[in-house]
Amino acid sequence: METGLKGRPILVTGASGGIGAATVRLLVAEGADVIASGRNEEVLSKLADETGCRTLSFDLTSEEAVKEALDGIELFGVVNCGGWGGEIATPMETDMAVFDKVIDINARGTLLVTKYASQNMVKAGKGGSIVNVSSQASLVGLAGHISYASSKGAVDAMTRVSALELGKFNIRVNAVNPTVVMTPMSEWYWGRDEIGGPFIETMPLHRWATEDDCAAPIVFLLSDGASMISGVTLPIDGGFTAV
Ligand SMILES: NC(=O)c1ccc[n+]([C@@H]2O[C@H](COP(=O)([O-])OP(=O)(O)OC[C@H]3O[C@@H](n4cnc5c(N)ncnc54)[C@H](OP(=O)(O)O)[C@@H]3O)[C@@H](O)[C@H]2O)c1
Repeated sequence: METGLKGRPILVTGASGGIGAATVRLLVAEGADVIASGRNEEVLSKLADETGCRTLSFDLTSEEAVKEALDGIELFGVVNCGGWGGEIATPMETDMAVFDKVIDINARGTLLVTKYASQNMVKAGKGGSIVNVSSQASLVGLAGHISYASSKGAVDAMTRVSALELGKFNIRVNAVNPTVVMTPMSEWYWGRDEIGGPFIETMPLHRWATEDDCAAPIVFLLSDGASMISGVTLPIDGGFTAV
């Protein structure tokens, strides 16, 4: 299938992390002009050496930094992948400072990038596609995920409202909702047998997702093949939320 992504400028936040870097690699393989973003410039520059992507470093929690970084940048696509896992805690014991930080990075950060990127996309008048990396944690109740799930629930809601508002500019907005991928964000918790074991038993495909399992649907949603898809929250969860 022709993705239509050749030469198109696409920003990927969280590109210094597992899912973001896999997405950068796949987008570059499709011929896209990728701008890899994160805070760790050393990791980003290694990814640039490997793939030939551009890099752009900024902190998702600073409106000034996001605004300045995206000022005047031409974009066809955006992958809002930067995120933080926060803590495992019940609603009774949750640390509100962690809640604030998770919301700040995952929800507010996604909105900030959408805000300034979509201004440029609308000005350019060429349409576009935004993919927000949400989580299965927004779709079902997962023990211990009170803060993280709240942040991703906000991302899902932003996806739907942004799809509604940006549709008239031919900009599509979708989310993907992956299950556990064994990046450092997840491994310390889900990698424990007593936590991961019972979970994976209930999942129809009985395995964790890989970074590449996430990258492929993200690239599809960016592509022309998804030209009539907007406002969806697509589980990448081996069937976990279906049963
Ligand atoms: N791993 C999973 O099981 C899983 C499951 C479902 C959804 N997700 C979501 O998938 C996305 C990527 O996760 P991952 O597993 O690839 O995580 P990861 O390897 O820990 O990567 C996290 C990325 O977010 C960036 N980031 C964090 N705070 C930031 C900030 N304040 N400003 C700018 N960038 C920031 C990091 O950049 P620096 O390191 O450069 O700061 C890094 O590139 C996240 O949104 C996560 O919630 C993950």
